[in-house]
Amino acid sequence: GKGLAVLTSGGDAQGMNAAVRGVVRTALHLGAEVHAVYEGYQGLVDGGDLIKRLDWDDVARILHRGGTMIGTFRSKDFREREGRLKAAAHLVDRGIDRLVVIGGDGSLSGLDLFRQEWAGLLAELVERDRITVEQADAHPALMIAGLVGSIDNDLVGTDMTIGADSALHRIVEAIDALASTAASHQRSFVVEVMGRHCGYLTLMSAIAGGCDYALIPENPPADGWQDRMCAELRRGRAAGRRDSIVAVAEGAQDREGRPITADMVRAIIEEQLHEDTRVTILGHVQRGGRPSAYDRWASTWLGYAAAHEVLSATADTEGKVIGLRGDRVVAVPLVQAVERTREVPQRIEEGDYAGAMALRGGSFTE
Ligand code: F6P
Repeated sequence: GKGLAVLTSGGDAQGMNAAVRGVVRTALHLGAEVHAVYEGYQGLVDGGDLIKRLDWDDVARILHRGGTMIGTFRSKDFREREGRLKAAAHLVDRGIDRLVVIGGDGSLSGLDLFRQEWAGLLAELVERDRITVEQADAHPALMIAGLVGSIDNDLVGTDMTIGADSALHRIVEAIDALASTAASHQRSFVVEVMGRHCGYLTLMSAIAGGCDYALIPENPPADGWQDRMCAELRRGRAAGRRDSIVAVAEGAQDREGRPITADMVRAIIEEQLHEDTRVTILGHVQRGGRPSAYDRWASTWLGYAAAHEVLSATADTEGKVIGLRGDRVVAVPLVQAVERTREVPQRIEEGDYAGAMALRGGSFTE
């Protein structure tokens, strides 16, 4: 039979469990031997109990749960060739030559490197008498598929990453909650939103939550932004608005690349408007908890497609990212998706919402 393994890597995201379940059950249905690798790439490096055979029922009752039931890790060992040698040996021991990884761009580029090195790693393992020539011959290639799991929605090649929709729901709920207490006191709130270098979550939640101002890395404000922001807030107050909310991306910066922090924004508002201002850092609540309906069905569909992709791949199939475009599931070359993510200048002009929405996902064309 065909041996397949699935793992989750990097920051967890809501919907990862749905994706794992989709991969496992589809692969079982297609007659594969399915394994889960626990604790991300570290589980591949360490082997032993961290690589387990899974059956249909092993992924029961996880569809609606946040996080990832097979654990995740930011593995340093797998970044070293020595770690990848161990990982290859552990896979060959178990007859696994197909791998689905659910993670961010770092995790996915590591996956493609592993695929490219595969033959060389196996040759070295034979030389070291770690595996036999017959074992190496039986696993001539590693076939891979990547799913993008990250709340940040920061990868070219898919409209939505797994977890981004749930995170948006959580953030908007928090903004709604802040708006009611802000309105009661006629206060200003500065909300710090996650997203690493990507302003997607901040911009979309600011629009959905009716915030007054948003600061995102892709649109570093021109000089004098402090005055313009305060003028905006003042106008809102004059028009009878009782709550002011400014959304700040954790990666927000000015034109010189200096970070703009939530606390800096608070100080500016207090100084210019003489208003009682509070900072709320949403933090990891954005990443935890139950996945939205979208993150359940979309991730299930993606998992299903990833299992089909790796099980139908042959030795010379290039590594793919399985993503969503419009109402389709698409397979795009993994290397290109990662390269484009790093290359595409992520800058938009003020007020260019369409540009902002296309920041990452929409901009991929083969
Ligand atoms: O990539 C997901 C993310 O939550 C980012 O939004 C954030 O910058 C980072 O991970 C936080 O990492 P950690 O969980 O290691 O604190």
